Amino acid sequence: MAGTKPSYHIASIPGDGIGIEVVAAAIQVVEKLAKHLGTFDIDFTHIPWGTAYYKEHGRYVSEDALDTLRRFDATLFGAVGAPDVPDHISLWGLLLAIRGPLQLYANVRPVRTFPGTKSPLATAANGAIDWVLVRENSEGEYSGQGGRSHLHQPWETATEVAIFTRVGIERIMRFAFETARSRPRKLLTVVTKSNSMRNGMVLWDEIAAEVARDFPDVTWDKMLVDAMTVRMVTKPESLDTIVGTNLHMDILSDLAAALAGSIGVAPSSNLDPTRKNPSLFEPVHGSAFDITGKGIANPVATFWSAAEMLSWLGEKEASKQLMECVERVCAAGIVTPDLGGSSKTQEVTDAVIAEIEKLPKP
Ligand code: NAI
Ligand code: MG
Repeated sequence: MAGTKPSYHIASIPGDGIGIEVVAAAIQVVEKLAKHLGTFDIDFTHIPWGTAYYKEHGRYVSEDALDTLRRFDATLFGAVGAPDVPDHISLWGLLLAIRGPLQLYANVRPVRTFPGTKSPLATAANGAIDWVLVRENSEGEYSGQGGRSHLHQPWETATEVAIFTRVGIERIMRFAFETARSRPRKLLTVVTKSNSMRNGMVLWDEIAAEVARDFPDVTWDKMLVDAMTVRMVTKPESLDTIVGTNLHMDILSDLAAALAGSIGVAPSSNLDPTRKNPSLFEPVHGSAFDITGKGIANPVATFWSAAEMLSWLGEKEASKQLMECVERVCAAGIVTPDLGGSSKTQEVTDAVIAEIEKLPKP
């Protein structure tokens, strides 16, 4: 491999609030890892999109945003949202302006209890949870279809139309079955609401059954989303990989993150599985104005997101080693207040860097 060291170019979009703090922490850690291991090069290019950019330019991203991102191998994203801008403006202005057009149709959210953290569920075996949630990320209830009319009349009307396509469902279903197959239990649960929603959700059920025929080694079952909340709480060990629509998995993944310990550790990947476009990696949490600037944001969700990014880029061993370093730090009790500790963001970051320095040189 001499002379062929891979080199990755990453777009970094810290965005708003604690997004800025946790992305800065993750860049320190990943740069240290690359330097220490010496098996790959990585550089981060800062992109200033976010609410400050919006206030100056009247838009959240530059006009050539998609072409800008296509020049990179991946994007590391923080969070978007500010107290003085309506959330639907900030979210559609930045994150949804990227996810849809770049066809990052698979949103993958691993949920795992860490050493040093514990599930609040009495039903979790050994206090631990280990799931992967797969969220359809390009259509469904968040398609932006609909409108408002009869403004300010007593009969003011708004529609929010959910779009479900055969192409969209089939590709996420295949991805979910493949994800389930890659895990030891080979177990998939398909979440819908096909009793009340008798069109789109019934199409989901039909396509799930069709795709399942190509994966005879994967055991799968179906759940209605309301019953699923109950199962997640009462029988967490009966679940492994879970797939559902944009809205359903948005909600279930926040629940899952809380059941595993804290939203401060939950990562997510927004993938284009065809690899035509660069994928985007981000913590599940938002910009958390209540703790912005206090230096206490938990950086672990972004460390884990960065580890998922390294794995997607092909650096599986480095990704695994980074997670082991993060887990050792958590196990040692060096954690932020949301996990019951008293460490600052930078103290957790420094502790992970110290663990990286102890890794054997390859
Ligand atoms: P949030 O995730 O920002 O915060 C919820 C609660 O969890 C807060 O009490 C916060 O302090 C805590 N928290 C979140 N991340 C944490 C971390 N890393 N360490 C320690 N504590 C943490 O959700 P919220 O308050 O509903 O939204 C705030 C803003 O963020 C809004 O503008 C919202 O639209 C935006 N948002 C953006 C997202 C994104 O960019 N992907 C996702 C969720 C919300
Ligand atoms: Mg959410």
